[in-house]
Amino acid sequence: MASKERERTSVEQLDREYTLGTWTRQRDFDPTEVVDTEGARLITADGDSILDFSSQYVCTNLGYDADRVSEAIAEQSQTVPYVNPGWSTEPRARLSEKLAEITPGSIQKTFYSTSGTEANEVAFKIARAYTGNHKILSRYRSYHGATAASLSASGDPRRVAQGPEIQPEVPGMVKGPDPYAYGSSLDPDESLAYIDEMLRLEGGTVAGVLVEPLVGSNGVLTPPDDYLPRLREIAHDHGALLICDEVMTGFGRTGEWFASTLYETEPDIITMAKGLTGSYQPLAATSVTAEVAEYFEDTLLNHGHTFAGHPTACAAGVAAIETYEAENLIENAREVGEYLRAELEALADRHPSVGERRGVGLHQGLELTRDEETRVPFEKRADKVSSRTTVLDEVGAHAKDNGVYVYTSVNTIVVTPPLTISTAEVDEAVSVLDDALEISDAAMDD
Ligand SMILES: Cc1ncc(COP(=O)(O)O)c(C=O)c1O
Repeated sequence: MASKERERTSVEQLDREYTLGTWTRQRDFDPTEVVDTEGARLITADGDSILDFSSQYVCTNLGYDADRVSEAIAEQSQTVPYVNPGWSTEPRARLSEKLAEITPGSIQKTFYSTSGTEANEVAFKIARAYTGNHKILSRYRSYHGATAASLSASGDPRRVAQGPEIQPEVPGMVKGPDPYAYGSSLDPDESLAYIDEMLRLEGGTVAGVLVEPLVGSNGVLTPPDDYLPRLREIAHDHGALLICDEVMTGFGRTGEWFASTLYETEPDIITMAKGLTGSYQPLAATSVTAEVAEYFEDTLLNHGHTFAGHPTACAAGVAAIETYEAENLIENAREVGEYLRAELEALADRHPSVGERRGVGLHQGLELTRDEETRVPFEKRADKVSSRTTVLDEVGAHAKDNGVYVYTSVNTIVVTPPLTISTAEVDEAVSVLDDALEISDAAMDD
């Protein structure tokens, strides 16, 4: 993460000595110390102010000044800081009611956990129990979580990197193609027909079709408008539920509460985390339709966690939803998203190494290329788990050294600022990206 040549602070040294970093060879773990935050900015121990233009891992949707949320957390921890999930608390009840209101269609009941990973694992169990089928069909360009079943359901290079000696893949996870017109040999319609064919050939053994409505860390892939409704129909035709993983796309990112709403689709199960509390507390949710919920009235829901429905986290969830509403953040995502989209299109026109801009609202991405004609990527999928410094790493490091953080993943710069972002901040970040992209332009001939 660190980019400038500099001495590590004492905290960074301590952290390096005693903390194991995520998804990295520990030699490459080089975190920058953050001592404060302000609006959409991180203040580092060196005194740098860095505009967060990816909302960290696309999760700090409220920015860093959501006082309503921090106050709710403080208040709840002074009244009922914790009870086990067999007890009832007001924040959990109110959050569940609120989720039923803002989620699409007849989604009604919610199961709580603490990460997007767990939210998906619960979804698999629910879909299997409800349908009596055991397989999960997901897509190759996807990330659904880090533990056994959720990583096995992910097409992400991180699954491939984890050989069977570390984590054997869970059986019954089948993968189909993605709606990725820019980089795949199938067009989105063909990829959908392929999934239909797969489901037919799997012969009614699939419990759930699991998709990110708008793919996130595997390239910010935007499907055609009718893709998701058609996928729902196809899943149902073959006896499977549609599970929408909205861990990244939920809570306003696309200018709607959920991307399923954007695509006028009612999932049977919807999973969420990240923006649910604006990441002020670790909280995740798996919400199901009234029909699916009803099934468990007389069937054991064989799952649970000590921290399921944690009162302090649920209080943060209620306050976060109130903040989205009170500050019109979803409208802001739509409006500033339009502005951002136009600015990114202009960047794409100016820089030959930007192959394509994709995305909706404040869920945008720039895919880079070595060659506009043949669309050769700078970063291969395997690079996500290698130590190699890629051209995208260099672009990201240049931006960070100049005051803007962007997360890069599998050949795409993920442009997903907090929903509080202003057009002036977009201008600031785009100007830094404009300079940083000179690096990839220059590397096209290497
Ligand atoms: C779409 C999607 N699903 C699931 C996850 C896993 O969430 P978590 O990291 O909270 O376990 C992520 C994380 O980035 C994600 O983007």
